[in-house]
Amino acid sequence: MLIEPLHEEFGARISGVDLSLPLDVQTFAEVDAAINRYSMLLFENQAMYDAAQLDFTCRFGQLEEEHVTYYGQGKIVYIGLVGNIDATGEKVAARQINSARGNEMWHSDSSFREIPAMYSILAAYEVPEEGGETEFASARAAWQRLDESTREQIQDLVGIHDYIYSRTKISEDAVNDSQRTFMHPVRQRLVRQNPVTGDKNLFVGSHVKEIEGMPESKARQLIKRLIDEVTRPQSVYRHRWRIGDVVIWDNRCLLHRGCGYDAEKYRRRMHQTRVRGWCPSIAEAFDTA
Ligand code: SIN
Repeated sequence: MLIEPLHEEFGARISGVDLSLPLDVQTFAEVDAAINRYSMLLFENQAMYDAAQLDFTCRFGQLEEEHVTYYGQGKIVYIGLVGNIDATGEKVAARQINSARGNEMWHSDSSFREIPAMYSILAAYEVPEEGGETEFASARAAWQRLDESTREQIQDLVGIHDYIYSRTKISEDAVNDSQRTFMHPVRQRLVRQNPVTGDKNLFVGSHVKEIEGMPESKARQLIKRLIDEVTRPQSVYRHRWRIGDVVIWDNRCLLHRGCGYDAEKYRRRMHQTRVRGWCPSIAEAFDTA
């Protein structure tokens, strides 16, 4: 297995691994160590299919069900369709694209759940000729850049993450009644720590509505300042997708966002699976490493 860094702050290209076959114990251990270290791994030219993706995902922990289908249709599915193509292969309705536009804001997947996603895995099947990239930035590197007094000021703060808040920034009809009823705001620590490496990172993004105990305008300024710090231009890696690419990223410490594309002109079909975090981040003990 060969590891080549993609960006000076995070990310690596992995070659010599075939994800269409079950990974042997040694190779999986190397991939597992690499995701903790690099936060985002790119595997190219993969002959991926859903069963193999589910199998690979399960190696890291419990599968997370896809929330749009769960709260929209009451069905549990583990393969999320990202892009503008539905399960029958047809282009999806405008409303669904509207809700997907929320992914164009910097976020960490499922941070609005009590147990947020640990890893997301995205496999590219059809990609637009232009646009439709995914951008990533490291909230771990951003934590390291902060001055000591800011770190002390924010270390113990709690952010309130709210899916309804973030999606209705796009449009009121980006969420349905079931989502409004069942998707409640959750508390997440603003600073998290990787239990394996001990590295700390910011935990912010578009789902953060407020900060507990802080006046709204001050909280909004702080949230914006921290997201801006994570996503300063020189710290962003923009991934231009090719068919056969599979990317796994660590939602605990990366922000990401999809880039726009002409959904009338192009097809974008990606399959996403996610690994559930192993404990509510609010309860994660610091200084465990
Ligand atoms: C996502 O936000 O999980 C998907 C990003 C993308 O559409 O590129």
